[in-house]
Amino acid sequence: MRRIERLLAAMTLSEKLGQLNMVPGTRLVTGPGGHRDLGEGISAGRIGSVLNVWGAEQTDALQRSAMEHSRLKVPVLFALDVIHGHRTIFPVPLAEAGLFDPDTWEATARAAAAEAAQDGIALTFAPMLDVARDARWGRIVEGPGEDPWVAARFAEAKVHGWQGRAPDSRARFGATAKHFCAYGAVTAGREYASVDVAERTVHAVYLPPFAAAVGAGVFAIMPALTDLAGVPMTANAALLKVWLRARLGFDGVIVSDYNAVTDLCRHGVAADNLEAAVLALKAGVDIDMASGAYVQALPLALERGLVTSRDIDTSVRRVLRLKERLGLFDDPYQRGSRAAQDVLQTRALARAAARRAIVLLTLRRDVLTLDPALRRIALIGPLAAAGREMLGPWAAAGEPGEAVSVLEGLSAALPNCRIDCLAGVAIDGDATHEIASAVECCREAELVILCVGESASMSGEAASRAELGLPGSQRALADAVLAAGKPVVVLLFSGRPLAVPWLCERADALLAAWFLGSEAGHALADVLTGQSAPSGKLAVSWPRAGGQVPVFYAQRPSGRPSDETEHYSSRYLDVPFTPQFPFGHGLSYARIVLEAMQCVPAQVRGDGEIEVSVAVRNETNVGGEATVFLFIRDVVARVARPVLELRGVRKLQLGPSERGTVSWRLPVEMLAGLGDDPEPLPEPGLFEIHVGQSADPAGFLSARVELMP
Ligand code: GLC
Repeated sequence: MRRIERLLAAMTLSEKLGQLNMVPGTRLVTGPGGHRDLGEGISAGRIGSVLNVWGAEQTDALQRSAMEHSRLKVPVLFALDVIHGHRTIFPVPLAEAGLFDPDTWEATARAAAAEAAQDGIALTFAPMLDVARDARWGRIVEGPGEDPWVAARFAEAKVHGWQGRAPDSRARFGATAKHFCAYGAVTAGREYASVDVAERTVHAVYLPPFAAAVGAGVFAIMPALTDLAGVPMTANAALLKVWLRARLGFDGVIVSDYNAVTDLCRHGVAADNLEAAVLALKAGVDIDMASGAYVQALPLALERGLVTSRDIDTSVRRVLRLKERLGLFDDPYQRGSRAAQDVLQTRALARAAARRAIVLLTLRRDVLTLDPALRRIALIGPLAAAGREMLGPWAAAGEPGEAVSVLEGLSAALPNCRIDCLAGVAIDGDATHEIASAVECCREAELVILCVGESASMSGEAASRAELGLPGSQRALADAVLAAGKPVVVLLFSGRPLAVPWLCERADALLAAWFLGSEAGHALADVLTGQSAPSGKLAVSWPRAGGQVPVFYAQRPSGRPSDETEHYSSRYLDVPFTPQFPFGHGLSYARIVLEAMQCVPAQVRGDGEIEVSVAVRNETNVGGEATVFLFIRDVVARVARPVLELRGVRKLQLGPSERGTVSWRLPVEMLAGLGDDPEPLPEPGLFEIHVGQSADPAGFLSARVELMP
């Protein structure tokens, strides 16, 4: 801390505000954000951190502007949205969440941190922890799905992966938990729209992942661009200062989202950039990303007494401490040591993660695994030969040319099979002129693999969709191909669940292929040929219709619980109230059954544990992976609780016809709701314990436990 205090004492106001100023760079030399522009600002001490510049040559040159040409030689921090991979791209987070495997979640973050650090990056704006239950919202792709318990485990794994587990909280790479908070609940799934959720829901659903990230030692947090009940998160002192810093003890850096400080004027809570800068700084936002409001307006705000030197010094101290924790003072030109073979290891990790993110949604006929004797396949659809699309949104430094398409993956896996590949239609737009040729191609083939879905740009930021069907003329293509009379395996590429009940009914097999990253084509070929069995599950409920969203399993029962046989119950007239596929759904080539469950004791006291064990059996002669979910239900409580709350996931590899057991020792406090509810302890009374391979109650084994007063 001596170095920090010495620097703080020596800094002019302009140099202090420079440390709070994060400027977007471009990869150009001239022009705003260009190399020369940034270099001058860094040398003058007006820029403390830069986003969107990477590559050792670029970052080294700009770092020299700080270390050799600035007065106080404070190193620059380079940041980037490394969301699901840097150069090697992993499956999008919504797909990776479906592995339900914290070890892999941590491993992919660690690999991405190594690649990004090699390119001069010290901080990523990840993990994105927005619980999302509305598939209209494009950023559902970037997060861990609908469940707060899963999101909290994802947060812990990702923070440990990005930052490492060094005890002294120093790390070569920093993580930013975002977007704080409840961004996933935007009105009508419309991007950036207002958020209105009950305070109890904020604490039970949207805050727990951030509490977990803070518990894991995350270095930075980014407030959401949205307002919560009329208070923009960038100016939300109640949640930033009181809950996050005072109650949780978060002592890291709060970095605003892009232009979020001056966006406070458009929110209508600040009359000008000066008021906006004051609101944000007073709320606890340390770094102003991109807007320039801090450097421009805070000198006058200080002069007018609207902020104090102490306010500014507190934020500067946090930023300097972040740079110290990242080792930037000791090694400003830090580079990871990445020999060439690491790239191969990282690609192998990407392929393994991609394989396990694939979700087998339906399997109607024995069309899978592909028969090795196949000699002619029609590979149809606008995503069949797509490389860049496989990387998905937020693909950082991912090289489109290094992404393996389905065509490339299948060609490599089936060298003796003729594969006729035809797009048929574009991903979007209404041209249908190649459909006839596509159908002709199908007629000549033994089997059709149809690759349809979204482009990478149809999900991610600023990509909400009001309609959740296939874009463009792809439905027309699919109808024609399905009518050709050949077996059809459908690969559905998307950043969100798509409402395609007609496809679910008619495909012989349907797989959610999401955006699987650099190794997509090989991973899909591995699963289609049986090199590896599908084991991915859904981290989000899959709607039948756009009108169902938000759809999620952890609903409260209401006074008229959903029941298709009861007219006066919580349901629709035109669509079943259940999702097309439940949270946790995902088939395997093996048939796994839960045989028996033990839950002891039947009565438990306040400091006890409940032991749950489940016998699992593989009924087939092929190996497979069992994923078993543990849910609880507080049947009667002071406030109505959801019909199911997830409290554990276990995975078990089972060989042909093998049996096994999974078990939990559930501490009684886990019967309470998530979050920091005023009464955090579980209330005495009856609890249900359910285990299942998804959130579908039809597959549950259940028991009851009485919590004694
Ligand atoms: C964007 C996103 C945020 C991202 C930031 C920097 O607006 O909301 O997730 O980290 O800008 O790119």
